[in-house]
Amino acid sequence: MENFKASGVYTKQAHVKIPEGFYEEEHGRKGFFGRVSQQYHEQRPTDWTHIVGDLKPRNLPPIFNEASLQNQFIKILYNNDCEVYLGTLTTSPETFFRNADHDEMFFIHEGEGRMETSYGHIPFEKGDYIIVPRGTTYKTYLTRPCKILKVESRSEFEEPTRGILGPNALYDQTAKFVPEAAVGSEQELDQYQVNIKHRGKITHVTYPFNPLDTVGWKGSLYPWKLSIYDYCPITSHRYHIPPSGHTTFVCQNFVICSFVARPLEHTSEGVLKVPFYHSNIDYDEILFYHQGNFFSRDNIDAGAITYHPQGINHGPHPKAFAKANEKEWTDEFAVMIDTRYPLDMTEEFSRLENKEYWKSWMVK
Ligand SMILES: [Fe+2]
Repeated sequence: MENFKASGVYTKQAHVKIPEGFYEEEHGRKGFFGRVSQQYHEQRPTDWTHIVGDLKPRNLPPIFNEASLQNQFIKILYNNDCEVYLGTLTTSPETFFRNADHDEMFFIHEGEGRMETSYGHIPFEKGDYIIVPRGTTYKTYLTRPCKILKVESRSEFEEPTRGILGPNALYDQTAKFVPEAAVGSEQELDQYQVNIKHRGKITHVTYPFNPLDTVGWKGSLYPWKLSIYDYCPITSHRYHIPPSGHTTFVCQNFVICSFVARPLEHTSEGVLKVPFYHSNIDYDEILFYHQGNFFSRDNIDAGAITYHPQGINHGPHPKAFAKANEKEWTDEFAVMIDTRYPLDMTEEFSRLENKEYWKSWMVK
């Protein structure tokens, strides 16, 4: 590595054997891919007493039971590359849908059902990521109420490169589910309505037949799904793998990562077991907490979201340091969306957020 310098108190291997009594902060570019330095502080960078201004760590507690969220998707955060929604579906939608603006990723937080698409049927359950290319017509049929995280993307959802890990790392190619051609199950109606979203507005198109009438298809563009429970994390007992090592989908200017149950690093090696302090320069970070015990965060329940905009530090809550050495395994499942460009919060986010979250690092 060119131009590598070191000065004062530091450790040979980042995140390992941090000098006693000091706190490591990572100051890096391009997410976790670019030039980076570790700084060793006397104080925690999250031990603030006041923050005045817009730039605060944010938290949306679980809001799936909110009246405004029923049987629709509510946009919570967005920029030019992606839009993030939360939705609670208790009844099957009445119309068919086609998104002409964006590709879509659905993460099933809870529930079960079947998405009938112009490529065939995709059964889904808790933990599934469903990728739907723009222009795909589909309709969702629920067998149980669903709580869903949805990301709409201006670019395609692509798989990460595996590099030196080889093609079966992260998830095996056979773990992907691709639908077989099948026509729609509804055949008794007089008319069928397709709602097409274009430039944010809906156009209603009516057919006298079920528009899912594809009897066969071939090619390289199709919807597919992957379960977060089939995701195989990269781990090292000697080094805390950065979030980029858990990349699941790559889009233009943002990535989606899966944090899944995994063994923690070995205490005997002196490895930091909790995420290091950082201010994610160059990336905004959204975390959706799906399942398990999120031990590096205080008071975060399944279904909650944290949003850490670029420029302000975050890292483990003080209690997590104390708990970390007792733990050998984490049972947490979470979905991270890291965006290259800053996100805007919607009015719904501001209305429902936990406005005290930024104080949660302050030692009580
Ligand atoms: Fe982070």
